[in-house]
Amino acid sequence: TPRVFSGIQPSGGLTLGNYLGAITKFVDMQNAGTHETIYCMVDLHAITVWQDPATLRHNTRELCAGFLASGIDPEKSILINQSQVPEHAQLGWIFNCVARMGWMGRMTQWKDKSGENAEGASLGLFAYPALMAADILVYHATHVPVGDDQKQHLELTRDVATKFNHDYGVDFFPITEPVIEGAATRVMSLRDGTKKMSKSDPVDASRINLTDDADAIAKKFRKAKTDPDPLPGSAAGLEGRPDARNLVNIYAALAGRSVDDVLAEQEGKMFGYFKQELADLAVEKLSPISGEMSRLMQDTSEIDRILSRGAERAREITVPILERVYDIVGMVR
Ligand code: TYM
Repeated sequence: TPRVFSGIQPSGGLTLGNYLGAITKFVDMQNAGTHETIYCMVDLHAITVWQDPATLRHNTRELCAGFLASGIDPEKSILINQSQVPEHAQLGWIFNCVARMGWMGRMTQWKDKSGENAEGASLGLFAYPALMAADILVYHATHVPVGDDQKQHLELTRDVATKFNHDYGVDFFPITEPVIEGAATRVMSLRDGTKKMSKSDPVDASRINLTDDADAIAKKFRKAKTDPDPLPGSAAGLEGRPDARNLVNIYAALAGRSVDDVLAEQEGKMFGYFKQELADLAVEKLSPISGEMSRLMQDTSEIDRILSRGAERAREITVPILERVYDIVGMVR
């Protein structure tokens, strides 16, 4: 069976972007039953920028609660925290020696995150995509569901696999396929439709957090930026209207319908009205999740148990693969 892997950083709370761009697809692929699914909290990636230890621990467990509350079933999927499966970091080192400085330097996420101060950024932040390639390839995963912003990192994963196979003259690592699908592969800020919705945006009103209550969700959508024109009858009418397009995309993704289908129904409506519809839909879909998350967080021993069990199951896959890698590379065993 084809194998699916994906990860999310516990570097803050979950946003509607993470939910629509990633988690809903994780759940769909799990429930399709056609793939073996492995989902990961990538705590080692989170510490590439400073994380307060207590906050990191809390965020990792809360992220796990978010996965569970959204429908990830630890019986159907393997649910893990990255640092509990040491083969990720071990293969990550090998890949640090396969990937090239130039490849890393071209990553737009590196350029955005290191900004003006590349000299002061951590070495881990620079090497981030090599560890990400290891996350995926230590399972020989073939499919990786992600939002649009991870596309370049997944191309690099293919480059790492290709170079490793070529350098060692083996056909060992698969060339993974990104799965970037649906109306919400890039959910934008509610305050600026040209900027990605992000957990690190200092303005809380720019995003919906999965922990927001119904009032906060409704208020943020009511205040979301739009333009004065009514909704068009088809997607073509959203051209050059990033804020309007974003809200329609979010609605379509939450409703599980196509953008054209939504617009055929909403054509001619004003955004004042549509934003209320959107807020109602979002509250209906998201408040059961936030309720379940806070219930799960009341006693985190259940979460810790699930993650220990997930790590055990994961290592049944990763230990033999890492053994073969060490053998291929020439490490004495
Ligand atoms: P992260 O933690 O930034 O985001 C987790 C997932 O959410 C998606 N996403 C979005 N999708 C649509 N609109 C948005 N505004 C939005 N914001 C975030 C991301 O595309 C991602 O799918 N490098 C990864 C974590 C990672 C990983 C991996 C992913 C580490 N190893 C291996 C896949 C496979 C990251 O920082 O995601």
